[in-house]
Amino acid sequence: MAAPGTKIEVDHASKLFLEGTVIAFRNVDLAVRSNELLCIVGPSGCGKTTLLRCIGGLLAPSSGRVLIDSQPVHSPREGVAIVFQHFGLLPWKTVADNVAFGLRMAGAARELVAERVSHYIRLVGLDGFEGHYPYQLSGGMQQRVGLARALAINPDILLMDEPFASVDAQTREVLQEELLQLHDRERKTMVFITHSIDEAILLGDRVAVMTTRPGRVKEVLPIGFERPRDPAAVRAHSHYTELRNHIWNELRPTVVEKAYERQPS
Ligand SMILES: Nc1ncnc2c1ncn2[C@@H]1O[C@H](COP(=O)(O)OP(=O)(O)OP(=O)(O)O)[C@@H](O)[C@H]1O
Ligand SMILES: [Mg+2]
Repeated sequence: MAAPGTKIEVDHASKLFLEGTVIAFRNVDLAVRSNELLCIVGPSGCGKTTLLRCIGGLLAPSSGRVLIDSQPVHSPREGVAIVFQHFGLLPWKTVADNVAFGLRMAGAARELVAERVSHYIRLVGLDGFEGHYPYQLSGGMQQRVGLARALAINPDILLMDEPFASVDAQTREVLQEELLQLHDRERKTMVFITHSIDEAILLGDRVAVMTTRPGRVKEVLPIGFERPRDPAAVRAHSHYTELRNHIWNELRPTVVEKAYERQPS
């Protein structure tokens, strides 16, 4: 039975591929509270994307369960938006039509669609690019379209898979600040996957640390910085360095092992 205030519950879930020969993650227990921003960090291949897809109802776990609002998830659920690691844009649609897509699918009125689309395109700094197609945009811009599209449906749960991985360092800082503000303003429940320990500490209420072989949640760490957060003040705090070192020490063994694996013999 989940604790009160739990929005998402991953209950002893495992996901295997290729007739059980690939274990994406095993025996994951994870609870995300209402209005919480939970970050997940972990090395490449530890099952982060697969876990997020299970939470979003796009994949079924091989065993265990995923629950949202105490209901088992079997398929994509209304009110849950996903920002995909590789954008997931429709290449034959313009920026505006991509952002409008979910709203139109939900049967929103034309005026509401127009209003939301222009609001969220402005929010992610893409005004002027409404009529462009994805191939005419940089990777970072495509990622912003994905973010605008997810926000436009006003979800109560936002699942984000490395949404800022392909933007330049300065843009990333701007988007991190915008995400912090959005979270303060709208208090959605968010799951945010990142490779960046710094990003996870800056954004998260808690950080789940995943390790590989097979993927599992090793620890869920409370972050504790009050909101609203000032990124510069958070980074300058001594607790920030402690958290950073702690998480890095958890991840280091698998990351180092992987780096050696990649060396040519
Ligand atoms: N559809 C699939 N079929 C077979 N194996 C898969 C499939 N999807 C994922 N895997 C495997 O499951 C494991 C976890 O993959 P996943 O994409 O979830 O990792 P990740 O933590 O998101 O990695 P990254 O940080 O590189 O995005 C990997 O070994 C991957 O090869
Ligand atoms: Mg991934």
